[in-house]
Amino acid sequence: MTANYLMMTLDTIFKCGILIEDTDDCQGYKVAVSKDTPHQIHRDAIRANLNKYTRQAYNMLPKMDAPRILDIGCGSGVPTIELTKLSNGEIIGLDNDKTELDKLARKLKEEGLADRVRVVECSMSGLDFPDASFDIIWAEGSIVAVGFRKGLEEWRRFLKPHGFLVVHDEIQNLEKKLEQVSICGYELLGHFTLSEEIWWNEYYAPLDRQVREQLRQHIDDPDVLSLLEKEQKEIDMFKENPRLFQSVFIIMRKG
Ligand SMILES: C[S@@+](CC[C@H](N)C(=O)[O-])C[C@H]1O[C@@H](n2cnc3c(N)ncnc32)[C@H](O)[C@@H]1O
Repeated sequence: MTANYLMMTLDTIFKCGILIEDTDDCQGYKVAVSKDTPHQIHRDAIRANLNKYTRQAYNMLPKMDAPRILDIGCGSGVPTIELTKLSNGEIIGLDNDKTELDKLARKLKEEGLADRVRVVECSMSGLDFPDASFDIIWAEGSIVAVGFRKGLEEWRRFLKPHGFLVVHDEIQNLEKKLEQVSICGYELLGHFTLSEEIWWNEYYAPLDRQVREQLRQHIDDPDVLSLLEKEQKEIDMFKENPRLFQSVFIIMRKG
């Protein structure tokens, strides 16, 4: 397995306290502790450079009025917030990492979007939503946790008839994945690739610049340096084998 951004849970940079509603589905979701870290790598801001591809994929779907969207493995919700802005729909952001969900909840409140998005702390394996609950299921960087085919098979029943599944996944085994689309009962509407150049220019180069800047500022702080070392390792892995970091959006309709 490659160490692509898509397969990594993002490191926690900020932790902020915020209260949001309990949920009916999966586990109730509550408050997080407030704690600032001394260094600031703004992964979310860098991640947002890729929002144009979330928009590109969304625009490959037909126009929908107020779609119900399930964002599986939403993390800190950079795509979730983009989807909320793109659609006039209702969104559920689901993840099993409370720290990331806390960040999402804080951002939703700041942006005045908290009434449009329900944040659910839950594993993506064994979801218990009623059948045909969603117009769109969205999964960026997360299907790898259950496996591409299993995700397609298990999530299909949660889609309404002719509902849409959009997956952003690592590029490995693309041909096999495209074959599995129809085997699992979907129609392929299209796919597009995020090249290694895109990942460098729009993600890893800005991250690299931030890490260098933070190293300069915190050169005497061993705790910060050890955190920055982790970021640096990921950048080094990219530099060693950038082809492995390519990714693909696959846009499907339930057949
Ligand atoms: C690479 S992040 C992607 C986050 C977000 N979708 C994005 O594109 O920025 C993958 C996310 O999947 C979540 N995840 C991994 N395994 C999971 C599981 N079994 N159930 C729910 N979420 C999971 C991680 O916590 C992480 O937030």
